[in-house]
Amino acid sequence: MCGIVGAVAQRDVAEILVEGLRRLEYRGYDSAGVAIINGTELGRVRRLGKVQALADALTEQPLAGGTGIAHTRWATHGEPSERNAHPHVSGDITVVHNGIIENHEELRTELQAKGYEFVSDTDTEVIAHLVHYYRQTSDSLLAALQTAVKELRGAYGTVLMDTREPSRLVVARSGSPLVIGLGLGENFIASDQMALLPVTRRFMFLEEGDVAEVTRREVRVFDVNGQPVSRVEQESEVSHDAGDKGEYRHYMLKEIHEQPKSITDTLEGRITDSAVVVESFGNGARTIFEKVEHIQIIACGTSYHSGMVARYWFEALAGVSCDIEIASEFRYRKSVVRPNSLLITLSQSGETADTLAALRLAKESGFMSSLAICNVPGSSLVRESDLAFMTRAGAEIGVASTKAFTTQLAGLLMLVAAVGRCRGNMDADTETKLVQALRTVPAHISDTLALAKDIEGLAEEFADKQHSLFLGRGDQYPIAMEGALKLKEISYIHAEAYAAGELKHGPLALIDADMPIIVVAPNNDLLEKLKSNVEEVRARGGILYVFADKEAGFRGDDTMRVMQLNHVDEAIAPIVYTVPMQLLSYYVALIKGTDVDQPRNLAKSVTVE
Ligand code: AGP
Ligand code: GLU
Repeated sequence: MCGIVGAVAQRDVAEILVEGLRRLEYRGYDSAGVAIINGTELGRVRRLGKVQALADALTEQPLAGGTGIAHTRWATHGEPSERNAHPHVSGDITVVHNGIIENHEELRTELQAKGYEFVSDTDTEVIAHLVHYYRQTSDSLLAALQTAVKELRGAYGTVLMDTREPSRLVVARSGSPLVIGLGLGENFIASDQMALLPVTRRFMFLEEGDVAEVTRREVRVFDVNGQPVSRVEQESEVSHDAGDKGEYRHYMLKEIHEQPKSITDTLEGRITDSAVVVESFGNGARTIFEKVEHIQIIACGTSYHSGMVARYWFEALAGVSCDIEIASEFRYRKSVVRPNSLLITLSQSGETADTLAALRLAKESGFMSSLAICNVPGSSLVRESDLAFMTRAGAEIGVASTKAFTTQLAGLLMLVAAVGRCRGNMDADTETKLVQALRTVPAHISDTLALAKDIEGLAEEFADKQHSLFLGRGDQYPIAMEGALKLKEISYIHAEAYAAGELKHGPLALIDADMPIIVVAPNNDLLEKLKSNVEEVRARGGILYVFADKEAGFRGDDTMRVMQLNHVDEAIAPIVYTVPMQLLSYYVALIKGTDVDQPRNLAKSVTVE
């Protein structure tokens, strides 16, 4: 789930490993650890809390040696503690692991019967003992791991070392990403290429079921059947400084401000003056779009919200029916696949376990084709989908997703135009208008970012609140949901979103002066309806914060603060109105003093169920 870094080199690797962990901190974690083989001796240091605590411990107690593994843990089995932190050791064997071993209880009982003593509460420790057990009858660590993986069920990425074979790492990937970094006379391994950018730009992505052996000079990969395979070597496209905060106090603030540039990148080369380039969605996209009669979107969290906006767009603008479902629900229910149905998965990381599982399931259930809209090139979702569209948001480090969301929306609006045209349901003028509107998004976002100071002022009024309600209608309802998710994720204030028309069916009972109500109100044909909902709240003593089109006619007073936004084309309003929601939660979190970039209990990329 969290971070793995490994290195095998002639030089000391402790610093490389710790720097790698720092670069993965954004994913969220609760403890960190490192183990290094020096000669044939193993040194291990683990700490609860931040990587800095581990780095401080290593200053006191330095670890020399050229073969090492390191980990940031996001506890799934056993409390966050030093005892449960990785790496775990069994005799000569040391292991780090991301993910979950589902049959850990069964394996634990079997291993205990064989005399193994467990010193942690983690599922991971069974890997250490199991490999240790098979190592006694195997010629090599690699052979022992190949036997052991046959008994492991669940999702894992794991890296092991053996003090008897001090110059090698062995790794296995099943449901949790691992990438090998190729150096000159040294090689590396990580759960995310970001960790290794200071030492290499050449990568080899492992595939599902792969087991590999990495030495300083050689990488040997075996597929799920134990057959030697070669995996393509790729040059990284991620920029080296992608992990720096620059002038900003937090990654989240940096990423909010990057949105005009990210959306420019999303659009670049993919739209002409009047049309969307259909091939931007992949080779063969046109043939598929011409046939598509239904769209099924699957995603989680923030990505789910962009899919919800797209549902409004697909049906209103492209005349194609569209369903959207949360991946963890979709994958566990029987659903009916409509004829000529296109499956679209949305994901920042491309490694979200539920979304990937839903894609794999859907591939066997008769969808016409699959399209991934994703921010990470080379991710599992991209590799396993028929078509892919990269959002090009750039590395998103803050756990709370911002630019990944708005770039997904820009990509989805392009897709709506492409499908609408290919289906013959959208005329050329409408497509041209959409494309022109898309081009104005970066400038409108920049205008909205200029409201940051005013929004910071508003945020003070939220600091002592326990609950809040976000309201929107139509394609702004998902934006209200995204606003609520952002606020709860980083400020820990309970936030709920409602379609404004639903207020009178229950939530009105909650309204009082202690519950701020946030309203997104662009100037569209639902404006008058929304104004009635606002009045319902005012009449019950609610305090309102309205983010409204300048031309929408909202006037501020004691019980209603109004943030005026420039008028924008209706189609792009969901993208633009997202930005003040992001700024509001950021400034509330800042006042509350929470860990903005790594909010408690959350991980950036949820690679376990
Ligand atoms: C967003 O702020 C969240 N941290 C989370 O909901 C996220 O969007 C979700 O886990 C899906 O991730 P993905 O886009 O990488 O698939
Ligand atoms: N399941 C393992 C544990 O709880 C690994 C968690 C992780 O992915 O960090 O220790």
